Amino acid sequence: MSFAAQPSATSIASATAAPPAHARLAFVGGGNMAAALIGGLRDAGTPAEAIRVLEIQPAAREVLHQRFGVMASDAADVVLDGADVVVLAVKPQQLAAVCRSMAQALEGKLVISIAAGVRTADLSRWLGGHALLVRAMPNTPALIRAGVTGLFALEAVDAGRRALAAQLLGAVGTVVWVPAEAGLDAVTAISGSGPAYVFHFLEGLIAAGQALGLDPATAQQLALETVAGSARLALESEETPATLRVRVTSPNGTTQAALERFAQGDLPGLIAAATRAAADRAVELGDQLGQG
Ligand SMILES: NC(=O)c1ccc[n+]([C@@H]2O[C@H](COP(=O)([O-])OP(=O)(O)OC[C@H]3O[C@@H](n4cnc5c(N)ncnc54)[C@H](OP(=O)(O)O)[C@@H]3O)[C@@H](O)[C@H]2O)c1
Repeated sequence: MSFAAQPSATSIASATAAPPAHARLAFVGGGNMAAALIGGLRDAGTPAEAIRVLEIQPAAREVLHQRFGVMASDAADVVLDGADVVVLAVKPQQLAAVCRSMAQALEGKLVISIAAGVRTADLSRWLGGHALLVRAMPNTPALIRAGVTGLFALEAVDAGRRALAAQLLGAVGTVVWVPAEAGLDAVTAISGSGPAYVFHFLEGLIAAGQALGLDPATAQQLALETVAGSARLALESEETPATLRVRVTSPNGTTQAALERFAQGDLPGLIAAATRAAADRAVELGDQLGQG
């Protein structure tokens, strides 16, 4: 397979524009991630009539209708007939059965899977050789529209459909295309699992603040605002994180004292080893999920 037509790894700023008015969207699975996407799309101007959701839980259907005004049904034909784009948003373990049950109904439609770990080769096989496939790896900050999503498309997906997929996932944050599907294992290791690394660092910073005599609430506020503010500063600055670090590190000052202790523990090496472990695990899980 050639990846020549694939866009290079490119970030696209948060897409505030709604997908083209004529695109009719169907979601299969109306849980947390689908709700986040639908909320982002509705706020970006996608009309409720352009979105339908296939969801087996009556309570979830009711919530989707109340919150977003969209039609939610447990009848596949009602949801899928006439849809241009179908977003597969069920749990990864449910995907093989779901795909097999609707292979015919998805013919000719752009299918976007947000299921973690499930590869396009397996999706395509379960869908009877479907080639109009995009695989997306969002992360949990998507739930507050501050996510970043890795995207990969099969060769048959043309530029217009790629743009549509980017706009759709852009409703909950920024998107990054990877030129080969293996890149999504790296995306999983960096941004997919990344929020947990940041939470873990925050736990350590909060505990350290308390050990230095701060009360728990103050330690938490200082840690959270510092991580949020630093990330925002890095995003808004034209400087690299390395330059920003050097700028706040006066010779023989407090920051240098702390950074030297991080270096003694080889923090960069630890991060590299941890993310390698996550990427390796992503490959293993992909193998397992593909057995369905
Ligand atoms: N949440 C995240 O932060 C995140 C991040 C990256 C990727 N993802 C991916 O996003 C996908 C969805 O995650 P989620 O957290 O939104 O899951 P979720 O809340 O469990 O939503 C899935 C929904 O689909 C329903 N469902 C199951 N089988 C169905 C079928 N045949 N037809 C229609 N609906 C069906 C489920 O019902 P039941 O509960 O009865 O099964 C559930 O309500 C997963 O594949 C996950 O890997 C999520």
